[in-house]
Amino acid sequence: MPPRLTKVPRTIVLVGLMGAGKSCIGRRLAAQLALDFVDADAEIERAAGCSIEEIFERHGETAFRDGERRVIARLLNQPIHVLATGGGSFMDPRTRSEIRGRAITVWLRADLELLLKRTGRRSNRPLLKRGNPREILEKLIAERYPVYGQADVIVDSADGPPEATVERVRAAIEAYLAAHPMAAAGEPRLAEDAGR
Ligand code: S3P
Repeated sequence: MPPRLTKVPRTIVLVGLMGAGKSCIGRRLAAQLALDFVDADAEIERAAGCSIEEIFERHGETAFRDGERRVIARLLNQPIHVLATGGGSFMDPRTRSEIRGRAITVWLRADLELLLKRTGRRSNRPLLKRGNPREILEKLIAERYPVYGQADVIVDSADGPPEATVERVRAAIEAYLAAHPMAAAGEPRLAEDAGR
């Protein structure tokens, strides 16, 4: 059996759609690896002094994306940690390039029904208030999944106890590091590769 992952050479960044479980899985993964967990959305709210909904309402999505890019760039300069990002951040080419250059990226992939079920529990996501959540999520899946597919590691987010998904993420990162010695040694990724 391969050795259990206990140490990672870079920050682990979780990407994926709203409701994929990035914060829930990220928090547990960080605890297992004895790393800090940071939620990029919470950091953006802290920096702005208001909620994401209020940022969207008062300043619009473009201003939110600019703030998101700045906050994520700052967080990537922090010591190694586990970072859950908002679902749209990896879609921004500059933010994506920054993340891919500096972190190990994990796409938590989930199907439409699971995303609907999970996002239905809270009503704090401005993008899902613009119409029918099923149609919006379907459209976001079509637009975003090919881009999320650029993540280093892809793990299906299971409906059920989060521990099973955390275990799969951990195993997938182990396999990725075993296959990528440069990444395992913490070498920076080539700019042209990161910018893909
Ligand atoms: C967004 C996802 C949200 C939040 C904002 C926009 C998106 O984060 O950043 O509402 O564009 O998908 P979660 O993915 O954590 O819900």
